[in-house]
Amino acid sequence: MEALKQISQLPISLSSLIILISATVPLSAAAELGLTDDSKCGCYLTNGGESRYFARHRFFDFRSLSEYAGVPATIRDAETTAGADETSAFFTATKWTDFWTLASWNNSNSARADASVLMVNSPNNVYIEANNEPDPSSQTWLTLRTQRLPDFQTAAEIESASASYKYLSLRMRARTVGARGAVTAMFTYRDADSLADVQESDLEIRTNDPRNLVHYTNQPSYTDDGDDVARATVNATMPGGRSWTDWAVHRMDWTPGMTTWYVDDAQVAQIAFQTPRDECNIILNSWSDGGSWAGNMSDNDAAYLQVQWLEVVYNSTGAGPEAKRHGAGSSCNRVCSVDQTPQRGRPVMLWDNAAASRGGGGLVAWIPMGAAMFMVLITSGLLG
Ligand SMILES: *[C@@H]1O[C@H](CO)[C@@H](O)[C@H](O)[C@H]1NC(C)=O
Ligand SMILES: *[C@@H]1O[C@H](CO)[C@@H](O)[C@H](O)[C@H]1NC(C)=O
Ligand SMILES: *[C@@H]1O[C@H](CO)[C@@H](O)[C@H](O)[C@H]1NC(C)=O
Ligand SMILES: *[C@@H]1O[C@H](CO)[C@@H](O)[C@H](O)[C@H]1NC(C)=O
Repeated sequence: MEALKQISQLPISLSSLIILISATVPLSAAAELGLTDDSKCGCYLTNGGESRYFARHRFFDFRSLSEYAGVPATIRDAETTAGADETSAFFTATKWTDFWTLASWNNSNSARADASVLMVNSPNNVYIEANNEPDPSSQTWLTLRTQRLPDFQTAAEIESASASYKYLSLRMRARTVGARGAVTAMFTYRDADSLADVQESDLEIRTNDPRNLVHYTNQPSYTDDGDDVARATVNATMPGGRSWTDWAVHRMDWTPGMTTWYVDDAQVAQIAFQTPRDECNIILNSWSDGGSWAGNMSDNDAAYLQVQWLEVVYNSTGAGPEAKRHGAGSSCNRVCSVDQTPQRGRPVMLWDNAAASRGGGGLVAWIPMGAAMFMVLITSGLLG
C-alpha cells in the first residue's frame, strides 16, 4: 500500500509511462515471448510459407549425453548383427522407446531391383558419439552408421514406433560425413504392396554427389519399369555456400497437399505432386545396397548421419504414447511456437486465449492496451 501511494503521488511523466509500457507490453521483439513448457501448450503454430497448427511436440536432444557415449566396434557377421543389443541404455529408456524403434530388417526380400549387395540394419550402428573436435558445438551427438563389409553392407535406421503421423514439421540439426556410395535420409514413409502406392516425403543425401546437392522427393520418383518421375523430385543446392558435411538444420513440413523443405530457415524445395495423404511413419537412416541410387561403397568404407537434435511438431491419429496430450487439454487456446524460441527444444507462448478470456492478463489482452496507450502518447505529441 505504501509503495502504491508513493507511485500515485508521482507526477506522471513521459519516461514513467514508457517504463510502464515496456515493462508490461511485449510489443515488438520475439525475444520477449515467454519461454514455457509443453505442459502449458495447447498447440503449436509453425512459421514459414506453410504455417500450420499442430497438436503435439517432441524434442530429442543428443548434445549432452556423455554418460552414454561410445563408438561400438562394427559387427562383421551378417547373421548376428540384426539381433545385436542396443549400444547404450539411452536406447532402452522409455523416453526413447515410446517414440522410436531400431530397425533390424534386411533387403533379402524387398531389395530394389538393382541392389547388388545384402544390406542388414543393425541396432549396433545407432549410438551416441562423443565430440572430440576442437570448438565443439555439442558434447555428443547421435550417429547412424553404414559400412561396407566383405559379405554385406551394415546399415542403420530409426523408425517411429507409431505409423499414425498425419502432418508434421520435422527438423534435425545434422550433417553427413564419410565415404562415397551411401545415402542418408530423413523422411515420412507409408508402406504399400506396390511401389506406385508408397507415400513418402524424403530428404536424401548421397555421398557420391557434390557436397552441396540434396534430393527432395515425394515418392515414388521412379516406376517399376525404372523410368524417372521428374515431377516428384527437386535436386537443390544447400544455401549460403554450405555443404551437407556442415552442421545445418534440415526441416521438412508435410502439410495437406504440400511438402516444403528448409535448410537453416531458407526454403530450398516445395513439391505439391504426390504429397502423402495418409498416416505415415517417421524414419531416419544411413544405408547402401550397391544399386544405382546409392552406389557401391568400397570394402570397409563407412558413412555417417550425425544428429545433434531432432524435433517434431505433429498430429497423430493413433492411440500410442505419441498421441498423448502434454496436459494443456484438447483445445488450441494456448498457442506455442518452437521456432521463435531462444532455447531450442523449449516452446514459447505466442498467445493465451484461455488467460485472456478469464481476464487473467494474457498477451492478447495486453497488446491492445499497450497499443492504445501508445496511440494516446503519439496523438498527444509526446513521442513526436
Ligand atoms: C492438427 O490438428 C488440429 C486439431 O487437433 C487441427 O486444428 C490442425 O489443423 C491440424 N493440423 C494440420 C496440419 O492438419
Ligand atoms: C533377413 O531377413 C529375413 C526375414 O525377412 C530373415 O529370415 C533372415 O535371417 C535375415 N537375414 C539376415 C542376414 O539378417
Ligand atoms: C535429380 O538428380 C538425380 C541424380 O543425379 C537424377 O537422376 C534426377 O534425374 C534428377 N532429377 C531432377 C528432377 O532434376
Ligand atoms: C556395385 O558393384 C557390383 C559388383 O560388386 C556391381 O555388380 C554393381 O553394378 C555395382 N553397382 C554400381 C551402382 O556401380
